[in-house]
Amino acid sequence: MVDVQAYLDAQREKDLDKLFEFLRIPSVSALSQHKRDMLRAAEWLVRELEELGMQNVRKIDAGGHPIVYAERIEDPALPTALIYGHYDVQPVDPEALWTTPPFEPNIRNGRIYARGASDDKGQVFMHMRALKAHLATRGRLPLNVRLVIEGEEEVGSESLARYVESAPELKADVVVISDTSMPAIDAPAICYSLRGIAVLEMTVRGAASDLHSGLFGGAVPNPLHELARLVASLHDDAGRVNVPGFYDDVLPLTAEERAMLARLPFDEEEYKASLGLKELYGEAGYTTIERIGARPTLELNGMWGGFQGEGSKTVIPAEAHAKITCRLVPDQDPEKIADLVASALAERAHPSVTVDVRRGHGGAPWICSPDDPAIQAGMRALEQAFAASPLLMRMGGSIPVVGNLDRVLRAPIVLMGFALPTDQVHAPDENFSLQAFDKGSLALALYWDELARALA
Ligand code: BES
Ligand code: ZN
Repeated sequence: MVDVQAYLDAQREKDLDKLFEFLRIPSVSALSQHKRDMLRAAEWLVRELEELGMQNVRKIDAGGHPIVYAERIEDPALPTALIYGHYDVQPVDPEALWTTPPFEPNIRNGRIYARGASDDKGQVFMHMRALKAHLATRGRLPLNVRLVIEGEEEVGSESLARYVESAPELKADVVVISDTSMPAIDAPAICYSLRGIAVLEMTVRGAASDLHSGLFGGAVPNPLHELARLVASLHDDAGRVNVPGFYDDVLPLTAEERAMLARLPFDEEEYKASLGLKELYGEAGYTTIERIGARPTLELNGMWGGFQGEGSKTVIPAEAHAKITCRLVPDQDPEKIADLVASALAERAHPSVTVDVRRGHGGAPWICSPDDPAIQAGMRALEQAFAASPLLMRMGGSIPVVGNLDRVLRAPIVLMGFALPTDQVHAPDENFSLQAFDKGSLALALYWDELARALA
């Protein structure tokens, strides 16, 4: 125990230099201009994983950005853990709002600033540190480990989801993921439920071309008005999603779980203040914690069309567009929900326009029993590393492949992540606290011992 801790402490400066190398690679999966950087990041991982003593390290081509695979089979009789993470990052815009450039990592006020520092390169790297600490101090791991680090998490994990369906090398007794958050540095957490996601994009079309609003206005449909009306129809006044069937498959919260969620430390006033809001907004009848983790939503992510330049232009645009995502909870199905939303829009559209709804990627929601021995082992590791009682939480974000892994592997999934609410993930000035980096690395190293004991 002390051996791995001493090793991690001794290696810290060297490890930070290594992490900075990784963070300097602009592996933005969404932008085709970064395709080569995706390959560079995958190759960087391959080199480092080989160097730290992993075996059978390789890039897998599943159609999109490369998947990096590595394993270390100590003894086929031992249990096997699968570590999943992602090396892709979100786009950096608006870049002007970054205090220092997103791919020039640096430390300020005890935090590492860079795109991907927290989500998820920093946390992937912590797993590598923990494995190395075991190998360097003891020459072996206490169980078998496989590692899958993909490059498409931030764009829906479609290649990996396909690959998982037929990949015997991913067989494992437990899956371990560090890509979630904790409420505070003294409140480590394991996430036992993630929301799923359904992605939609819609186009409303009116006349064949833009029209003079004086010559035609009053006699023709305006696609922007129609889009606004349709989008507004998707919620009722109580903040519920107004799409027939949307809630049909939602597993209701039990009284026990509601009581447990109500006991989580949460200060609504502080939450509002941190967001710069006077009032919160959400579905009637549910607490903020329930709304974020345990209730589904439909959100408009973008809406555009018509004239947006300087001054005014008297035009009736021919088209209007919107991007929509739904966050889903067990047992909602992404494809079914996308169908329901598309049908509701089609039915409500005025006959003078056409509404074209395109489906994007999807990810199933996921929930597990927090009583699982693999989770309980994680709670013990967190408790030791953070010297604080860990929490069990539902989280509102999505890790699309988790649903696939759950269905295909039928193994417990342990979401032990270390992002903090102050990390600015997906936003300018993304950062990762050095305390989370240090304590989290130790927790992961301790976890392998706890897990090996629990599964023995
Ligand atoms: N790491 C996040 C997901 C997350 C963060 C889950 C904190 C729970 C707590 C992940 O990288 C992410 O942002 N996922 C995307 C997936 C989407 C693009 C399909 C998300 O949730 O928006
Ligand atoms: Zn993310």
